[in-house]
Amino acid sequence: MTGVTRVTRRALLAACVLAGCDAISGGGPVNSEQGSAGTLLKSRARLPQPFRAPLPIPPVLAPSRSDGGVDHYDIAQKPGTAKILEDLPTPIWGYNGIFPGPTIVSRSGRRTIVKHRNELPVPVSVHLHGGSTPPEHDGYPTDLVAAGGGRDYDYPLRQRAATLWYHDHRMDFTGPQVYRGLAGFHLVRDDHEESLGLPSGERDIPLMIADRSFDADGSFLYPSTDPSLTGHPGVTRDYVSGVLGDCVLVNGAAWPVLEVSAMRYRFRLLNASNARRYRLTLDPNPGFVQIGSDLGLLAQPLRHKTIDIAQGERFDVVVDFSGYSPGTEIIMRNTYGGGGTAQVMKFVVARRGRDDSRVPQRLSDLEPLPAGEATARRTIVFARGGAQAHGMTLWTVNGKAFSPDYLVAQPKLGAVERWTIRAQNVEHPFHLHLAPFQVVSPGPHQHGWKDTVNLGNGDRVDILVRFDGYRGKYVLHCHNLEHEDMAMMANFEVL
Ligand code: C2O
Ligand code: CU
Ligand code: CU
Repeated sequence: MTGVTRVTRRALLAACVLAGCDAISGGGPVNSEQGSAGTLLKSRARLPQPFRAPLPIPPVLAPSRSDGGVDHYDIAQKPGTAKILEDLPTPIWGYNGIFPGPTIVSRSGRRTIVKHRNELPVPVSVHLHGGSTPPEHDGYPTDLVAAGGGRDYDYPLRQRAATLWYHDHRMDFTGPQVYRGLAGFHLVRDDHEESLGLPSGERDIPLMIADRSFDADGSFLYPSTDPSLTGHPGVTRDYVSGVLGDCVLVNGAAWPVLEVSAMRYRFRLLNASNARRYRLTLDPNPGFVQIGSDLGLLAQPLRHKTIDIAQGERFDVVVDFSGYSPGTEIIMRNTYGGGGTAQVMKFVVARRGRDDSRVPQRLSDLEPLPAGEATARRTIVFARGGAQAHGMTLWTVNGKAFSPDYLVAQPKLGAVERWTIRAQNVEHPFHLHLAPFQVVSPGPHQHGWKDTVNLGNGDRVDILVRFDGYRGKYVLHCHNLEHEDMAMMANFEVL
């Protein structure tokens, strides 16, 4: 169904009222592939054959030095070249010039300092998504590192083992800068997790799923109004709901293939796409055993036939290939997609194996946040409307466009609060910096400690948040990066 846009009539009409209505005739500002707000952008280059490229594993970055209980890393943000298409190179912007960037691996509670040098022609800001980080190191959108500049980001990492990721967070330009390649994994490990006997080493694999489209010259195609990313922000009118690529990359390779042994594997799934949401399934389907969510292990494993993963979310899963004989091919599909975007990658069982890994029935102590201790209730509404810029109706939080001095909440340090999040017009993945939360009455894909949760059009989700960590000003926002860049972000301040 490539190119076909699907949207409920109710959503379309609601959006039209707000946007002032060229949406009705199609090709207008609010379109949706199934499960995602956004418009499909068709590649102008020839896409590669699926299941040819081996799955790349991003290199683990070695510390430049370790002293006094601190690990120091150096990263240069710079242009690079990726080999994704068969016939053309793809220029990218990457951490150390690669996409995904190098994986940083930290121990829980061990301070990690990352020195970033900006060798790109634009300002940047680095955010550690899922990090419990002091505000001055959290990558606030206007806390920029100028072109040619550099700075240290200092991460205390006083948090449990989890799959974090780092990505660009520049005000108004996060969408295009992440799309060019500014994203990488940052894993936090701890002794407890390592004592469980989960699949590890070469069978603990991060999978960064991100869709992209390609221009005729092989570069990533993105509909910026100003492709130099130095002047006017935003995307052209047809893409204000989100940019959906027609090629699915995993760890930077198009529809790659991974040879596996007939054993258990741990996959850390991350949806690093700007706007695309996936409903992942395996064919044939041994099922996914979910062991962790955005912020670490669940209390006990959860079995899923499919996984819905929104932008910014992580699912830590174990897949057991032991029931398959060598030669079996297993395709990871995206049942929300159509054509090329209906498939993600392939596993080929290459050999038998002796597996001594296990998935224990008790994974971690995860106390439910006590609803009775919530000291405040707040409502956050993600919708389109209430503010305009450059003749466009903006995406807003509680009717307001992002401004560095508007505070939507001022929780006290250590407080538990109950927030009601509502989504209107289209889907919106809600993301909160700093503070982990739990969904009250979670759906199948909303268990455990979360920092991002998807809401469908018209949905309401209640969360309990504990504002632990640090005082200061942070952002919450929609993790549809086009929405975020078009003002769907707000500040909260921990007092
Ligand atoms: Cu993953 Cu504020 O972002
Ligand atoms: Cu974040
Ligand atoms: Cu949104």
